[in-house]
Amino acid sequence: MTTAPPAEQRSPGPSELERAFDAAVAAEERIEPRDWMPDAYRATLVRQIAQHAHSEIIGMQPEANWITRAPSLRRKAILIAKVQDEAGHGLYLYSAAETLGVSRDELLDKLHAGRQRYSSIFNYPTLTWADVGAIGWLVDGAAITNQVPLCRCSYGPYARAMVRICKEESFHQRQGYELLLALSHGTEAQHAMAQDAVDRWWWPSLMMFGPPDDRSAHSAQSMAWKIKRHSNDELRQRFVDICVPQAASLGLTLPDPDLRWNEQRGHHDFGAIDWDEFSQVLKGNGPCNEQRIDQRRRAHDDGAWVREAASAHAVKRRARATEPPGPPPAVSSPTPRHAPQNGATTT
Ligand SMILES: [Fe+2]
Ligand SMILES: [Fe+2]
Repeated sequence: MTTAPPAEQRSPGPSELERAFDAAVAAEERIEPRDWMPDAYRATLVRQIAQHAHSEIIGMQPEANWITRAPSLRRKAILIAKVQDEAGHGLYLYSAAETLGVSRDELLDKLHAGRQRYSSIFNYPTLTWADVGAIGWLVDGAAITNQVPLCRCSYGPYARAMVRICKEESFHQRQGYELLLALSHGTEAQHAMAQDAVDRWWWPSLMMFGPPDDRSAHSAQSMAWKIKRHSNDELRQRFVDICVPQAASLGLTLPDPDLRWNEQRGHHDFGAIDWDEFSQVLKGNGPCNEQRIDQRRRAHDDGAWVREAASAHAVKRRARATEPPGPPPAVSSPTPRHAPQNGATTT
C-alpha cells in the first residue's frame, strides 16, 4: 500500500497550474520562460513573435534599396542607421522567441519555406526617395501604434524587447516625418513626389493593423491572455486620428475622400479598406513578394560562412573554458618591446 505524499511534496496538477497561470495574467504579473503556460499560449506567442521578427528583417529591404541613392551624406547616414536598427529589432525578437523553446534556425527555415509570414506592407515597392519618408512616417508610425501596447504584454521577454524597440521606432517615425516635411516645402516636383508616396503608402499602412475585428481569427483569445491589449479596429482608428492633423502640418493630403471628423464619435470616419488587395498580398500575389523572399534566402545563404565561423569560435571557447588548468607557461627572458622581428617571436 502506498501512502500519498504530503500536499507540499506533490507536483501541482494541470488544473492547479492553469489556475496559477490565469491568476498571474489577471493580476498583471509577467509570465516568464520557466513558468508553466498553456500550450496554446506558447504557440500563439511563437507565431506572433516570429512574424514580428521576420517583418523587422524583411522590412530592411525596401528602404535599403535607397541607401546608395540617398540625396545627401546626412540622409544616407540616417537611413543606414535606421536599417541597422531594424536588424537589431529582429535580433531582440528572435531571442525573445527562443525563450519559448524554438530555435532561430527553425524560424528562419519556416520563413524561407513560406510557412511563417511577415507583414504584408513590405511587399510594396519603394519607387522614389519620398517613399523612405512615407515609410518612416506611416509604416513606422503604424508599427508604434501597434507596438506600444505590447510593452505591457503578459509575456515578459516579449514585453521587454518591445520597450527598446518602441523607443527606436519613434525616432524612425520622426525622421520620416521630417523628410516628408522637407520635400513638401521644397520644389513643386519634390512636393508632388512626397504626395505621391503618401498616396501609395496610406492604404497599405491601414492594413497593417490586420483584418477588421469581426474577421480577426486570433484577437479575442490574445486579448484574454493580455498578449494584445486593443483590437485591430481600435488601433487603426487611433492611427487615423493621429495622422490627420500631422498630414495637415506636413501640407499633404490623405488619399481618402470619405475622411472626415465625426463629432458624435469623437473620431475621424474613413473610407472602406480594400481587403481583397490585403488577402492577395498575403497569398503571395503582392508586387514584391517573390523578390523579398528570394533576397532573404540569398542573404541567408551568403551568410552561411559567418554562422559557421561563429559556431566554430563558440565551440573553441567552450572547450577552452572546460580544459583543466595546465602547467604554468615556461618563463623565458622578456623580449624587448622593439626587438627586431626575425620570425622567432610570436604574439
Ligand atoms: Fe523595427
Ligand atoms: Fe522602424
